[in-house]
Amino acid sequence: DWTMAAYRDEQIAKIREQVGSAKVVCGLSGGVDSSVAAVLIHEAIGDQLTCVFVDTGLLRKDEAKQVTELFREHYNIPLVHVDASKEFLGELAGISDPETKRKTIGRVFIEIFDREAAKIEGAEFLAQGTLYPDVIESVSATGGPSAVIKSHHNVGGLPDFMKLKLVEPLRELFKDEVRALGRELGLTDAFVGRHPFPGPGLAIRIPGEITPEAVATLQDADAIYLDEIRKAGLYDDIWQAFAVLLPVKTVGVMGDARTYEKVLALRAVTSTDGMTADFYQFPWDILAKTATRIINEVRGVNRVVYDVTSKPPGTIEWE
Ligand code: XMP
Repeated sequence: DWTMAAYRDEQIAKIREQVGSAKVVCGLSGGVDSSVAAVLIHEAIGDQLTCVFVDTGLLRKDEAKQVTELFREHYNIPLVHVDASKEFLGELAGISDPETKRKTIGRVFIEIFDREAAKIEGAEFLAQGTLYPDVIESVSATGGPSAVIKSHHNVGGLPDFMKLKLVEPLRELFKDEVRALGRELGLTDAFVGRHPFPGPGLAIRIPGEITPEAVATLQDADAIYLDEIRKAGLYDDIWQAFAVLLPVKTVGVMGDARTYEKVLALRAVTSTDGMTADFYQFPWDILAKTATRIINEVRGVNRVVYDVTSKPPGTIEWE
């Protein structure tokens, strides 16, 4: 892609000029946007960049591992991986209200990021994967630290890292352009084509209280669902697909025993920007196979349902 190659070179020159010999901290979420921003900035200034990945423990199964491996091994980008899952789950204990979940995650995220960024001596800049839609919309469809940081910009006192100057090389781009730029930088189609994932992660896909067991159950079920979607070759036709673990138990039967376990809802939508969306019309056999596998392989789930609500009137997420 000639245009993207030119854009890349232009941005690299701009970043070098802006940053000079100073150090830059980048908040990595595991998502596409912050990853593309980090790889681009690393091309521009090498080891002047340090990435901080605050792992909330609320990502999809194995996603934290994929991100750290990509950055450490493939790109050799200095990366601080903070496993903060205990801290997040501790703070979220007993909270059921969706907005309180979001606020709690945002607050804890900022505390941890601030603490880690302060350890990077001489950092003068904060890099974010802010996209053009993030600049014009208040709700990000892209998730990640930039969205979290933005949504907490006006809450209480300013954390120290907010005093850093911003480097936002994706500010002029839409999602599909970020994907093209990512490919231009050598990221794989599979990596850049990943579905958007919300900043609060799986916390807003577990209505009611979040427990470590619920997160583990949801991660396992969600991984099976995505595996079946990929195997059927449908991943790229879908804007977002994910599972929601409901706080509702229903009766089932397995062998000759009665079961009493949770319901899992599957969601998949098509969309161009997340503002409106249609529920995805799966071939029945894919849903049937997914449901069978989840009930057989994931403990604690004995019923699977599919969400046929479009947006509006529904939202994409359940919380
Ligand atoms: P809704 O559920 O509002 O979602 O139809 C629209 C898009 O936004 C994402 N989303 C979020 N992203 N923080 C984020 O970073 C959030 O709190 C949040 N809530 C929803 C959602 O995944 C979809 O892409």
